[in-house]
Amino acid sequence: MRLFHSIPTSWVLPMFGFFLGVLPKHAHAQALIPAPIESRGNINVQAKTLQSIHTNNKELLDEIDTYNDFKKKLKLPEAKRIETFTSPRILCDIDKKMSAESYRFDILPEGSLKISGGEAGVFYGLMSLLQLESQQRGKKTISIPQLNDKPAFAWRGLHLDVSRHFFPVSFIKKYIDLLALHKMNTFHWHLTDDQGWRIEIKKYPELTRIGSKRKETCVGKYIDPYVGDNTPVAGFYTQEEIKDVVRYAAARHINVVPEIEMPGHALAALTAYPQYACEKSPKEVLTKWGVSDDVFCTNDSTLRFLKNILNEVFELFPSEYIHIGGDEVPKTRWKNCASCQRTLTKNKLKNEDELQSYFIRKIDAYISSKGRKTIGWDEILEGGLAPGAAVMSWRGVEGGIAAAKQKHNVVMSPGTHCYFDHYQGNVNIEPLAIGGYTPIEKVYDYNPIPSTLNADEAKYILGAQANVWTEYIPSTKHVEYMAYPRAAALSEVLWTGKQRPGFEDFKERLRTHFNFLDTLNVHYAPAIFQVQATHEINNDKVQVNLFTHYKQGDIYYQLIEPDGTVGEKTVYQNGESIVLDKSTIVQAYYQEPGQRRGPTFEQAYSVHKALGKEPQSKTPPSQYYNLGGLGTLVDGLRARAPRNNQQWLGWYQEDVQLTFDLGSEQLINQVTVSLLEEISSHIFLPEKLIIEIGSDGSDFTPVKTLDRDQIKSFYDASGYIRVPFDNTIFGKQVRISTFYDRTANKKPWIFISEVEVD
Ligand code: ACM
Ligand code: ZN
Repeated sequence: MRLFHSIPTSWVLPMFGFFLGVLPKHAHAQALIPAPIESRGNINVQAKTLQSIHTNNKELLDEIDTYNDFKKKLKLPEAKRIETFTSPRILCDIDKKMSAESYRFDILPEGSLKISGGEAGVFYGLMSLLQLESQQRGKKTISIPQLNDKPAFAWRGLHLDVSRHFFPVSFIKKYIDLLALHKMNTFHWHLTDDQGWRIEIKKYPELTRIGSKRKETCVGKYIDPYVGDNTPVAGFYTQEEIKDVVRYAAARHINVVPEIEMPGHALAALTAYPQYACEKSPKEVLTKWGVSDDVFCTNDSTLRFLKNILNEVFELFPSEYIHIGGDEVPKTRWKNCASCQRTLTKNKLKNEDELQSYFIRKIDAYISSKGRKTIGWDEILEGGLAPGAAVMSWRGVEGGIAAAKQKHNVVMSPGTHCYFDHYQGNVNIEPLAIGGYTPIEKVYDYNPIPSTLNADEAKYILGAQANVWTEYIPSTKHVEYMAYPRAAALSEVLWTGKQRPGFEDFKERLRTHFNFLDTLNVHYAPAIFQVQATHEINNDKVQVNLFTHYKQGDIYYQLIEPDGTVGEKTVYQNGESIVLDKSTIVQAYYQEPGQRRGPTFEQAYSVHKALGKEPQSKTPPSQYYNLGGLGTLVDGLRARAPRNNQQWLGWYQEDVQLTFDLGSEQLINQVTVSLLEEISSHIFLPEKLIIEIGSDGSDFTPVKTLDRDQIKSFYDASGYIRVPFDNTIFGKQVRISTFYDRTANKKPWIFISEVEVD
């Protein structure tokens, strides 16, 4: 995410030889994630049964080695491979009648655990077994459910951006391990972008010699003026390392889909080889976020260059699908490039959108000629989709729907549910993220099949994946924090599909699963334990209700008054409303017997004279940034930078005029307006801000007029300006007008949140 503003088939149960009762209602000793499609009674096997393993299928020897590799990482005793019949043991058996990814557990009369299935299926059976063994470690007998299991979706993916920040091979392997343990099967490796080229290409050594290094990174959200951190970021994967990763992934039934971005997001490549840009002048690998205007030229020599790169990519990656990006391509350079304009004329293309489509078709034809398939972000639909190409739908699901209706394969990855660079908890608590709000329950409730598709069209939805863009994710620990446990929720969406048992059940299994992740040293986020708050405005007061997903413990809260007075720590009673009649900070945390879980929640509520007085707006906010409606501006929550789209309203290239009616004449001392400056997303402070006071709704007297410099001088880094008046003014209406910068070469957004009148 950079700029965007953004089957199962039912199956017949094989008859088990015997059946030992049903699962207890809270069978969380078997807290499998993803939940199996079908789980019948548990049978105890001796722990030592799981310390020897046998197969008659040579194809399964690698799976058994991988299983043992995982056992080592989980500090579980190895399963020795035995050639001859000694009993009881684990018996792995390919069943040609079962589909490739399905598996079944049977307990044989002598006490062996038999795992049968397709080759991948047996592997997934072993992955289930690892979770069961880990949960029951140290026990003499291990309770094993009789499973009959297979995935709902064929594409179960997770992506990682290694361009914005670089992560070593050892971490890539850990990331792949975790995917396998959750029965995911696709790793989308985002290897190139404006901020770094990370894959060795032998024919073009400058790509990594120059393109894999950027001199520094902008600090934080890149507030004007730009501040660099003076710390170079460099790194790339050699071809030997890539082959090693691909092999490693294959042993875990993970397909690695490489992404080589074109024609946009190409500045790192163009810094190394400026001759393939429209403007051949020297360039610099991008040190800030956002999208570079410099893109690949569409001429033949650039196409040759990219085909030569792809030739090496084909050698390294056996993947059927090759990802070529295709998103966020500014057309500025193409409009001014003689060569691109010649291509446009020669090929009778109407505009630069069609030029993009022309470019993608050329590349797609090449990829197809090599027996591979193209996949790209949903922009590749614009100007006509190349014949065999698949679409990864990220700007919502519309692109995916359109592609499926045109009988093209689709991988769903909408920003709303699948962007793991978004916040997963309260913005005030979480580490800086790009924006958005995608808590785990939202991920869990995602359905990759849009309801508008009929059954025939739905077949084109291969599955879904989540994306981990790393602009604001500089370390491996932070990647784990953003990916888990949300990836665990996604794994259940994709594996168990519609038959999954629901979030309430999932969240209890997740408690056990956290221990599993602990054993693997995964730095997952504890956001699911956060206290959450909802509030209402009643009689000019704010009423706050608190909530946690878990009920095993209590919520404790305390109130901090404007003068800093801290109230007593109190146990929150379920359903209770905390009533605030003045601006107050609420702090709260969740405590279980013996341990605090999750961080402390903190939210400031502003009680002011415009509270709950929804304004009139001359022009409505953009449909993309109007989640809560105009009431958001007077809901008592002062939004903060970094942005959380729930709290900000956005207008695109528009002067904004908001009129607040206080209901009666009041004394007014000051007005505080939350405004946002986020240059990487083209969100700017206004050029001019006028505050006026009126009494009869038509006559307004200007009280303050601020130009941009004055706005800046009032502006607080956390995103608001407080404008005190020179005198107290008596009035009934407050009118706020903002004006955008007509001279800016980038079209500006303006973002506004709470307008407080005191
Ligand atoms: C994307 O997030 N630009 C695909
Ligand atoms: Zn050009």
